[in-house]
Amino acid sequence: MESKGVVTAIDFGQTKIVALSARVGWTGEPSIIGIGISKSKGISKGGIVNADEAALALADCIYQTESSSKTKVEDAFVTISGANISSKNTYVNISTEGADRKVSREDVLRALAQASQVSGLEGHKVLQVVPRGYTLDGGKTVKDPVGMPSSHLALSAHLILGSAKGAKGIREILEAVEISPLGLVAAPIASGEAVLSTADKEIGVVLADIGHDGTSGAVYRDGAPVHTFYLPVGGHHFTNDIAFTLGLSLEDAERIKVNLGNAFPKSIPPDERIDLEMLGLSEKRKLYRKQVCDILKERAVELLRMIGYRIREAQLVNKAPAGLVLTGGASCLPGLEQLGPEVLHLPTRLGEPDGMFGLPALIRTPAYATPLGALRWGLKHTEKPARDGKVFSLNGHRPSLREIYDKVSDKLSDWARR
Ligand SMILES: Nc1ncnc2c1ncn2[C@@H]1O[C@H](COP(=O)(O)OP(=O)(O)OP(=O)(O)O)[C@@H](O)[C@H]1O
Ligand SMILES: [Mg+2]
Repeated sequence: MESKGVVTAIDFGQTKIVALSARVGWTGEPSIIGIGISKSKGISKGGIVNADEAALALADCIYQTESSSKTKVEDAFVTISGANISSKNTYVNISTEGADRKVSREDVLRALAQASQVSGLEGHKVLQVVPRGYTLDGGKTVKDPVGMPSSHLALSAHLILGSAKGAKGIREILEAVEISPLGLVAAPIASGEAVLSTADKEIGVVLADIGHDGTSGAVYRDGAPVHTFYLPVGGHHFTNDIAFTLGLSLEDAERIKVNLGNAFPKSIPPDERIDLEMLGLSEKRKLYRKQVCDILKERAVELLRMIGYRIREAQLVNKAPAGLVLTGGASCLPGLEQLGPEVLHLPTRLGEPDGMFGLPALIRTPAYATPLGALRWGLKHTEKPARDGKVFSLNGHRPSLREIYDKVSDKLSDWARR
């Protein structure tokens, strides 16, 4: 099987492991050639809790991906999330070294490497460096400084930090299925890649990916993330609330939530009843649908307030006029878009991932924003020779920067490996 010119991303979620492989054609446009989706096992709150189970689930996912693409997955970008992930902004200043006093790729590489070696992290490691911008000689700030005249280069970067143990756990699972990590991508940064426009990121936006056990979020401003957070509330808590309050099994509560749930009970007629038997549940009771939705609303308000607290904590109130964009399976609960503005006074919308050639409709939903965004990040930040040895072009990004990111990703994954 041939693997050249193919980029793969793997998202380790609490409920599903998703792998997506894309090949970039001569036009520079990527197309999806391989998809694997398997039920997640051995993973809890973003960390590996049973390595054997997790490796088996990943092996199944990779088998599906390779079978559909007829291409071996040798390396991949991998998502990270969970309570152990935090973030920090940093600034790095370097003198450019070229005789012509122009910024070279090596200068940028040195600045990125220096940013990843920030001190005082109290047991954490830098797992991902997200450049926010480069300032030339204390004046103009640009996204890509290579080739620009400047004797000093200042890098503003958003660092994703995580525990060494967590990164090691992921590396071991990948090793078990013989895949090399190309780079780690924080889940909310990945989701942002899939659903946020350049304009959203420029004027300020909050991304919240509501998964199963938790919500990963990021606040963007001036075109890049400025704050990343994790909240221990996800879709599972909504299901739990219905189950415990109404005395139902978790399976029945999940089915009610997914089929008839709504976080904005004002829109539900007060006399509308749910016939549990008609829903195919073992129970024969009838429930008021509004009662179920009131329970869901309570939890949704709590989660939105927690997001608001994180925005305040980061001193970003009134600095996200593009509003709140929701992704993750649990964001599919109807009513969140109406409730968001009431609780947070922010416009709220569902993040629908942009398409990619060959992408089935299932993946173009908020529940798959993380794997799709991780793939987009990988496509931007890698460079591989295509079959005839030419370097394939990616989304109009200059090869120089891609090469740099590729090198930095390698350095970071080497570093996380230690
Ligand atoms: N239509 C729906 N309405 C409400 N909740 C839903 C709906 N569809 C899925 N969910 C919830 O989404 C959650 C799973 O979300 P997702 O697929 O994003 O999780 P994950 O990526 O596997 O996990 P995580 O990101 O937490 O590691 C489940 O709790 C599920 O109940
Ligand atoms: Mg997820």
